[in-house]
Amino acid sequence: MRITIAGAGYVGLITGLCLCERGQDVTMIDIDEKKIQTLQNGIPPFFEKGLPELLESCQNSGRIKFTTDPVEAYSEPDTVMIAVPTPERRDGSANLQYVFDVCSLIAEHCRKACVVILKSTSPVGTSDKIETFLNEKSNNDLFEVASNPEFLAQGTAINDTFNASRIVIGAKNLDIAEKVQDIYTGFSSTFVLTDRKSAEMIKYASNDFLALKISYINEIANLCEKVGANVEIVAAGMGLDPRIGNLYLKPGTGYGGSCFPKDTKALHWLAKYHGYELKTIKATIEVNENQKIILFQKARQYYQNFRGLTVAVLGLAFKPGTDDIREAPSLDIVRLFEEEGAKVKAWDFAASDNFRKYCSQDAVFCPTAEETLIGADMCVILTEWDEVKSLTPKQYKERMKTPIVLDGRNCYPPEVFENTSVLYDSIGRITVNPRIRLIPELV
Ligand code: UDX
Repeated sequence: MRITIAGAGYVGLITGLCLCERGQDVTMIDIDEKKIQTLQNGIPPFFEKGLPELLESCQNSGRIKFTTDPVEAYSEPDTVMIAVPTPERRDGSANLQYVFDVCSLIAEHCRKACVVILKSTSPVGTSDKIETFLNEKSNNDLFEVASNPEFLAQGTAINDTFNASRIVIGAKNLDIAEKVQDIYTGFSSTFVLTDRKSAEMIKYASNDFLALKISYINEIANLCEKVGANVEIVAAGMGLDPRIGNLYLKPGTGYGGSCFPKDTKALHWLAKYHGYELKTIKATIEVNENQKIILFQKARQYYQNFRGLTVAVLGLAFKPGTDDIREAPSLDIVRLFEEEGAKVKAWDFAASDNFRKYCSQDAVFCPTAEETLIGADMCVILTEWDEVKSLTPKQYKERMKTPIVLDGRNCYPPEVFENTSVLYDSIGRITVNPRIRLIPELV
């Protein structure tokens, strides 16, 4: 089958390569010439486990093309998949401009019956709208639109695609749904065939539920600190109940990334547009905003201001396994420390280059996690990279000027800091060696 994929971002590129690997002929089109050139040269445009090998394998197969030319991409495909971004507008609603730009090009260049698959996360009702748009614009009834939302997560994107927990296909009738199902021949998954609006809603409802689960455990963690309970044991105890499940119960400095923050706001906006207040999602967003700066609030317990102090920041990406810093807690935390006059030394396994433009020129980026600690008055851990998890109390103690470690990702069991001089504070657990409060000489 000849499939054109519009948008060579995370979702589009990974989906396109996985489809190609399973035997489909794939043409990827993007408006970013540099990205297309990079891909033509066999270089992945972003960091993702297994991507270089998959890209090479697809190129060797001869079944993948990368182009910026709409004539080449849209003239002859059996199916076009739209995987362009739907960024957040200022009011929280999804901006569908890129989706409609692609539809204009499809309507202009495609002259044969074609199923258009909407993969971009889009408000409920968008598939209906773009089908009308395509058929009116082309003066033809050539186009059928299906919704096929994506659930891959960064860092595990390739495995998530080949072994998706489910492939959701929303279509007007079974015939169209089965045509879409055909493109996934060779994928190991359960198919959910439904109407278009339900498919679109499954995506938002799933992401927002996971975001809610994270905000819930973060609030429970904050309460655990107050009552002296250990949130990790609490989460483990909760997770044994199959009705709850043990995933997405890891407390931390809040969720980031390109999906949860945007999709919670978009669904909240959509509900409001329909005259309904989605209270759980409103609370999810509020809790997360506060959780993102919780380490800064904790830091205040030890220093009244940060002028002249050095803060070591371990981890900048919104989670390990990616170089993506979109909506990462690091953006807020580093800004707050710098606004208060701290000097930031930072390390990340993959995201330092992406982060540089979001901090002052005085910030220093270190080649290793250990080197970042040298001379620091405080360390904040924002991403649970393995390199961070393998640091020992001794390294913190010997490298830092004042060994205060605020761990936003619970990288270590607190006990490892017992009988050391390191003050270790994490999320939802006891503070180890909490003797130093408001260090007098620095106040
Ligand atoms: C998410 C969804 O998982 C995926 O299905 C969807 O298609 C896109 O959005 P992604 O943004 O790549 O994927 O990351 P994910 O692994 O889900 O983590 C999102 C954020 O939640 C990260 O910041 C992570 O650190 C945080 N998180 C996750 C927690 O704080 N606790 C958890 O228990 C799980």
